[in-house]
Parts: sequence; C-alpha cells; structure tokens
Amino acid sequence: MNISREAVLEKGFLDLAVDPHLDLFAEIERLKKEKNAVVLAHYYQEPDIQDVADFIGDSLGLAQKAKETDAEIIVFAGVHFMAETAKILNPSKKVLLPDLKAGCSLADSAPAPLFKAFKDKHHDHLVISYINCTADIKALSDIICTSSNAVKIIESVPPEQPILFAPDKNLGAWLNKKTGRNMLLWNGACMVHEIFSLEKITKLKLRHPQAKVLAHPECEEAVLAVADFIGSTTQILKYTETDPGTQYIVATETGILHQMQQNSPHKTFIPAPPNNSCACNDCPHMKLNTLEKLYLCMEHETPEILMEESLRLAAKKPMDRMLEISKAAGLIG
Ligand code: 13P
Ligand code: SF4
Repeated sequence: MNISREAVLEKGFLDLAVDPHLDLFAEIERLKKEKNAVVLAHYYQEPDIQDVADFIGDSLGLAQKAKETDAEIIVFAGVHFMAETAKILNPSKKVLLPDLKAGCSLADSAPAPLFKAFKDKHHDHLVISYINCTADIKALSDIICTSSNAVKIIESVPPEQPILFAPDKNLGAWLNKKTGRNMLLWNGACMVHEIFSLEKITKLKLRHPQAKVLAHPECEEAVLAVADFIGSTTQILKYTETDPGTQYIVATETGILHQMQQNSPHKTFIPAPPNNSCACNDCPHMKLNTLEKLYLCMEHETPEILMEESLRLAAKKPMDRMLEISKAAGLIG
C-alpha cells in the first residue's frame, strides 16, 4: 500500500480502517516476531496497550530499555518526548509512535526560543531539565533528570553551583525542599498533575481513614503536603507492592492503577479526584494512543520519529550525563 507521509503527519496517525474481527493482541505479537520489534509502554497507557507491551516502566526505565534493546524497531507507546528520547539514545533503530500528536502539556510549556533567552540571562547557571521536554530543550541543557533520579542528579552538582531547573515548577519546588537547594525554576506544569483537588482528597481521606495518599512530584505543593509517599510512577507502584497497607488514594494519572491492581489484587486503589467533574486525571496525550493505532503503526512502520543528527547529538550529551550519574548512584544496572 502506498502511504503518503504528509497524510500521516497531518493526522498524526495512520487513518485506516481496522477489520473488527482481527485479534489485535495476536496480530501485534506476530508483528513483533516478524519485524524484530519491541513494544515499550509507559504506565499511563490504556490497559490493553500495557498488556501487549514487552516492557512497562517510568521515564528512566523506558530510556534505559530504549538504549539497550537489540530489536530493530522500537514501538514507543507513550508520548512524543519519550519516543524522541528513544531515538536520541538509539539512532540506528527505527522508532515508531502510534500517534505523533501524543504530546505533553509540560513539554509544551517550555518553547525553545523563550527558554534559550531565559537561559542566556542566567548564563552562570547549570541547566538541569526534567526529561519531559523536547529534544530542543534537552540540547540546551547540561543534565537531564527524571522523577526517579532527580535528587541524585542535583546532589551530584557542587552546592555553590547555581542551577536552573526546567520545565516543571512543582517538581522543581519539591526538589528544592528535598535537597535544600535554591534552584531557579522555569514556570511550567503538567495539566494532569495540577488538576487534583485537595478538598476532595481530604474528604476521601475522611471516608477512608486507612487509605494512604500516594503522589507524583509533578503535583502541586498542597497535594504533596498531604501525601504519605511521593515518587515516580515506578516508585509509587513498588511502594504499593511492599507496603503493608491495603487502601491507597493515587494522585497521578489513572493508567498506573492497572498495574497496581494486577500486582496487588487484594488491595484497593482509588484515583485522586480532580477539581471538576471531567476525567482530567487521564492524560489526553497519552490516551491518544490506542491498540488499533499501535497495530497499524507496526504493520505499516509509520509514523516514525526522525531527527536532525546535529540536534540528536546535542540532546544526547545531557542524557548520557544523566545515565552515567544514575549508574554511579546504583539507580540503573
Ligand atoms: P515517570 O513515569 O518518570 O514518573 O513520569 C511521569 C510522567 O508524567 C510521564 O509523562
Ligand atoms: Fe505530559 Fe503530564 Fe501527560 Fe505526563 S501526564 S505526558 S507530564 S501532560
């Protein structure tokens, strides 16, 4: 079939009808073998995608898997900056993203020209950027971090060195508290993690007094203040597996509940409520990927992540620094 790249770029995905009688799970398994493809998925993907993935993880785990895989095709079930990261770390592989329009409000909150001007005003600052940013922002950074290694990354920098942290102001403020630093913060945020209602969480706690509040550090300070545990998605998931408690209010994107429930079927997981009546604690970007789009992108090997080599090399430098520090700290193997 002749597929126009322009049409895919315009829609973001392959807009082809899928035979409703197809067993997509079996088809995806067939394509993995035929094409030597690996499916990497973030916890915020819909349950069907998580179930068909070869590896499910947080941003650090996914970056490490993307770097190490010897599969020829990496199918990234996540958002654009994650697939871009896979391409930065493993340029000889074909990296596919089921929907190219699966973006990220946090990454969008730091447009490269504005960030460059801000950085130029603070040229004595070392730039640490959260991995939830575009390749252009990575290329303007000294070190990348994720929510699971950020404390170690910051602690690796001499205390007298001023730091500019981007793009998430909530994560940055939490890290300032944890490390005692006074990092200059870019004013960005994640639309999903800013939507939780402290008032509704407090009421839920009254109805479920045994329930522990688990929060991602992208949440606002007031929500973090009532949390029993704060961590990356993998850290929160592991906490629910080892903690003796049985009830949890989960203040991060709802996709993570699938693994929590699967790994601890006897426990109760309650999604933290948003401050309105919509399902805003579902990330609309992550949820653009569907099983049908995943199948189509594997079958036709498009949409693909492509990147200028000069940009890739510039973005790779701070990523390599992050992986080196994480390895030295024993956070990755
Ligand atoms: P982690 O899975 O690394 O905790 O990141 C959460 C997130 O917001 C990804 O978009
Ligand atoms: Fe971006 Fe937030 Fe969605 Fe994660 S949950 S992809 S940070 S918008």
